[in-house]
Amino acid sequence: MALPVEELRRGYDVDENANRFSNYFHLLRELVHLSCGWLPLVGDFELKYRLGDHLHDDARSISKVRRRLYELRHPSEYPGAPGEELTVLLDRMNAAGSADEYVAMAYGEAKPLLIEAIRMHLDRLDPVSDEPSLRLLSQLLARQERHVEEFAVLSSQFSERGTERIEDLGALPIRLKAEPRPLRVMSPLDVPARDDFVEVTEEGDPFLADELYVNDPELNHVPIEPEEQRHFFHGLMDAELTAAELMARNSHEYPQMPWDFHVDMARQTWDELRHAKVHYMLMPTELGCRWGDYPVTFSYFKSIYAHDLLGRLALFNSTSEQKAMWRHSRRREVLTERGQEKVAMVFDYLLADEVPHVHNGARWGAHLLDGDEAAYRRMVRELREGLDETGAPRAQAVEEPGVGAGGSTTSRR
Ligand SMILES: [Fe+2]
Ligand SMILES: [Fe+2]
Repeated sequence: MALPVEELRRGYDVDENANRFSNYFHLLRELVHLSCGWLPLVGDFELKYRLGDHLHDDARSISKVRRRLYELRHPSEYPGAPGEELTVLLDRMNAAGSADEYVAMAYGEAKPLLIEAIRMHLDRLDPVSDEPSLRLLSQLLARQERHVEEFAVLSSQFSERGTERIEDLGALPIRLKAEPRPLRVMSPLDVPARDDFVEVTEEGDPFLADELYVNDPELNHVPIEPEEQRHFFHGLMDAELTAAELMARNSHEYPQMPWDFHVDMARQTWDELRHAKVHYMLMPTELGCRWGDYPVTFSYFKSIYAHDLLGRLALFNSTSEQKAMWRHSRRREVLTERGQEKVAMVFDYLLADEVPHVHNGARWGAHLLDGDEAAYRRMVRELREGLDETGAPRAQAVEEPGVGAGGSTTSRR
């Protein structure tokens, strides 16, 4: 097929183009950072799920935008720092006093500005000489439009567009020689949020026995009766939420980590929320129960969150998730044998997704120890000594009142 011959559009010059991508970079970077910070405090499960999905999209988009900037401007100092007007917008987004306020700004103001700027960009760019930008921006636009659409009901309730005066986000000046803008870290979490109708107690669901969570083939119990499966999958959904919240906070609280770490955490956040969604759907359709039917506890969340990043990776990714792999594969086997294929299939994907999650622990744990993988494995072994056979911290393993002493097994998988 012959290539079409038509007049070139000319479009933006390379400097203008790089300037536009720099503005998108700064906005998206702050959106990922703040969405990770707020995610645990969003109670509504559907919103929490969407936020996790979108922050993962945005993290991947940032990698592509960075790559395009490198292609356009390497080795200059792009993307510099945001100029004055964008800084005002970012500061306002950082000043949000609640998850609702943040979501309203992010989805009612920041993302719509980004969409408008990308549309202008696409209208004017030269589709031949700048085809790499065309491809990237088309994907970015489709993602942003989907995000805003999925939050449409919410953001229209709150949003009073405070930045009408920003006509073209892409054209805002970038301060090339300025120091990189530091990311502001929110205050530490006390506890995450759950839907209003979910009861949170100290001990969680008393129905969930230790045998569900031990790795000993003699002692491990796979739930097969309808009643125990209802409680088990309900606890599993809560454990997935806990996992997502921990990963989101890992990214938010350690902005100094390499960019790939944030992409890995964003991916895992979305994976865990997708796992939660699987259980959320499985409960009413296969098991005869619903999210919120049983109590949950934050004791496991607190016991992991009390550690720094290295401790969280060692205890969560390299221990809890690593050990869950064996149990998932056993659960799949037992349930398949009993003819519960649909329920058994769930564990097939949970297990597959667990592999990169465990790898996140080894990869970034070793990174924090200057690349010393053996030192990281040693540290994991030592920390495991503070855990009981179900993986719960033994009493006093974490020196914080009310944490880890009860040995409640909900929030585990
Ligand atoms: Fe999971
Ligand atoms: Fe996981």
